[in-house]
Amino acid sequence: MKCDRQTLPIAAIREENTSLRTFTFNGKLNAEPGQFIMLTIFSQGEKPFSIQDVDENSFSMTIKNIGPFTDRLFKMKDGELVSVRGPYGQSFTRKTGNILMVGGGYATPPLRFLAKKLREDGVTRLVNINGARTAEDLLYVDDFEILCHQSHVATDDGSLGHKGTSVGVMENILKHDSFDRVYISGPEKMMKAAVVVAKKHALPYEVNLERYMKCGVGVCGSCVMDPTGFILCMEGPIVDNETLDGLDDFGVSHRGKTGHKITI
Ligand SMILES: Cc1cc2nc3c(=O)[nH]c(=O)nc-3n(C[C@H](O)[C@H](O)[C@H](O)COP(=O)(O)OP(=O)(O)OC[C@H]3O[C@@H](n4cnc5c(N)ncnc54)[C@H](O)[C@@H]3O)c2cc1C
Ligand code: FES
Repeated sequence: MKCDRQTLPIAAIREENTSLRTFTFNGKLNAEPGQFIMLTIFSQGEKPFSIQDVDENSFSMTIKNIGPFTDRLFKMKDGELVSVRGPYGQSFTRKTGNILMVGGGYATPPLRFLAKKLREDGVTRLVNINGARTAEDLLYVDDFEILCHQSHVATDDGSLGHKGTSVGVMENILKHDSFDRVYISGPEKMMKAAVVVAKKHALPYEVNLERYMKCGVGVCGSCVMDPTGFILCMEGPIVDNETLDGLDDFGVSHRGKTGHKITI
């Protein structure tokens, strides 16, 4: 089993909004969009986070303050040490052609990284839909504007862009436009709705799934999905349409800390 562990000081912290910060580390990470790292805070444990950007000598993650681990991280300052292992998991397949990306809430970090890579690959046309509850919750609005040929914004309360969801915008766009592939990353219920729309238009898709992860390397079984025993940390978290069709848990249930099933 490969374990590329690096102990690094926090190089920079950028506040995205009141509950989200982007943490940057100076170090080499040979990662692709959709992969994740396991982040250790000494005396606090270890948690998985998607990679939102990689440069030659640095990488970063955007993290929501949601519980004890992330609360401890949010109290840390530049220069304090953490440990990172990875990258782990399967990435989005990087295709050229006409590409649509549909993001929701705080799950957009891997789409930002993907957009950057697809532009480097010379993608023909890249259209992004970025949805969140309110304007304050939207991530990377300017970045998507720069990285994509077309960038749409949707908010539940109409405080910025289209009033409604990113899936609503997706439906509207697909009435008069066609794409070769769609990449989806958001809350599971939103992704489930986006998959219905993609299927209606016979559009191949890949989704970014999250499950409770402890080891990140296929040992503990906490991220396994029924009924196939798909090991999300190794075989995902990016899942294609064919594989997803065989996962009854998608949009229905996930396992908690102790392995018990919880309805989504
Ligand atoms: C592949 C993957 C990528 C992720 N990427 C990001 C990201 O880019 N940004 C981000 O803010 N969060 C991300 N998460 C979620 C992040 O790991 C958890 O939100 C974080 O661990 C919460 O820890 P906590 O102690 O602060 O909160 P807790 O109070 O422990 O938990 C808050 C919520 O996070 C979930 N959670 C807690 N521990 C884990 C775990 N080990 N694995 C999965 N879910 C967990 C809980 O089920 C609960 O819903 C990702 C999770 C996975 C599996
Ligand atoms: S997190 Fe342990 S097997 Fe996936």
